[in-house]
Amino acid sequence: MIFKGKRILLGVSGGIACYKAVELARRLVTSGAQVKVVMTRGAQEFVTPLTFAAVTGQTVGTSLFGQGIHPLEHIWLGQQVDALILAPATANLIGKVAAGIGDDLLTTILLAATRPVLLCPAMNCEMYANPVVQENLTRLEQRGMTVLRPAAGPLACGAVGYGRLPEVEDILAVASRLVSPQDLAGRRILVTAGPTHEDLDPVRFLTNRSSGKMGYAVARAAWRRGAEVTLVSGPTALPAPYGVEVVRVRSALEMREALQGHFPTADALIMAAAVSDYRPESPAPKKVKRRTPSQELRLVQNPDIIQELAAHRTRQVLIGFAAETGDLLAEARRKLEAKNLDLIVANEVNRPDSGFAVDTNEVTLIPRGGEPVALPLLSKDEVAQRLLDWLAEYWSGAREESRG
Ligand code: PMT
Repeated sequence: MIFKGKRILLGVSGGIACYKAVELARRLVTSGAQVKVVMTRGAQEFVTPLTFAAVTGQTVGTSLFGQGIHPLEHIWLGQQVDALILAPATANLIGKVAAGIGDDLLTTILLAATRPVLLCPAMNCEMYANPVVQENLTRLEQRGMTVLRPAAGPLACGAVGYGRLPEVEDILAVASRLVSPQDLAGRRILVTAGPTHEDLDPVRFLTNRSSGKMGYAVARAAWRRGAEVTLVSGPTALPAPYGVEVVRVRSALEMREALQGHFPTADALIMAAAVSDYRPESPAPKKVKRRTPSQELRLVQNPDIIQELAAHRTRQVLIGFAAETGDLLAEARRKLEAKNLDLIVANEVNRPDSGFAVDTNEVTLIPRGGEPVALPLLSKDEVAQRLLDWLAEYWSGAREESRG
């Protein structure tokens, strides 16, 4: 529920992408937001206010004047929400906002708005490329609005180019950053996720059940809170989180190489990946044939990546995970010490709704020299938030100590 308790004003102007704004409104609501939709006249030609009212459970603003409309609504609405999202924003709406015109409810709200505005343009590619539209967008960015530039692809008018409304997932990601505390701003955070593949031959490999969900949730949440995030990911089926640099690797050795390159400039490493402890000693260069009733497989140990990096740390905070099927806390503590970490996340994997490949997780945070904090079963997004709360507090505590 990344928008839990947040109030969002969704401004919708008249373009074919209006139908996608309905899905955006629905996703905001299911992510916990209270959503007030305000539509221009043009938008009402594409989608009815009733559709948005049904999806959000709130009346839809369509006019400055009329029965039942409070005379100050156009002032309050842009001041009492946590953020305003304009999606789709047409060239006309962008032009009016840039020129300071307030001739309907939405543009008047924007003139009086004091909260962050996310503008998502969507239009024909020639219209978008028009210098006047570009100048208007730049002007609005300079005035502090966030512009999520359109994606490229086939457009409703038949043309192909820049002009498509960005994916709803990306709009949600950028909006969530606008309404989140930026307590990790200025920090570089390196995150790992997923399994590794250790090749037996060109078509077979050893791996484990990690889906990457936990690490991707950490990467998303860290970016949302203002950090610059690099995600070193083993093979997963997950899309790259918006705003995050993703480095894709397959094996433990590739993961080690990628981390060695990024670690020196990082402020923290959060290692949620399930790295294979062993790899086949000599992978076969060609597909192994089914000729003998049994085969021997010789494995050699992979390097312990986080332990190696800990030996070269300068300022980095090191956070590991431990997924155990027995003696969870004792094993996690042992790894915390052996690998010289600052925190280990002891991960319960004996219940079906926790650990590998599910959306929820039950963990205990064990800080070095501190009391363990057992968390209940939570979504992986929520676990990521709690972990980053610990990190943000750790850094603010360290700052206090250095001040004396
Ligand atoms: O990806 P999901 O499906 O969402 O599942 C999430 C998860 C269960 C994989 C994740 O939450 C988790 O617990 N990851 C750690 C898995 C594990 O058991 O790691 P480990 O006990 O083998 O290693 C301890 C720590 O050392 C880990 O941070 C690991 O990344 C790191 N390690 C391990 C081996 C190795 N050769 N090098 C390492 O750096």
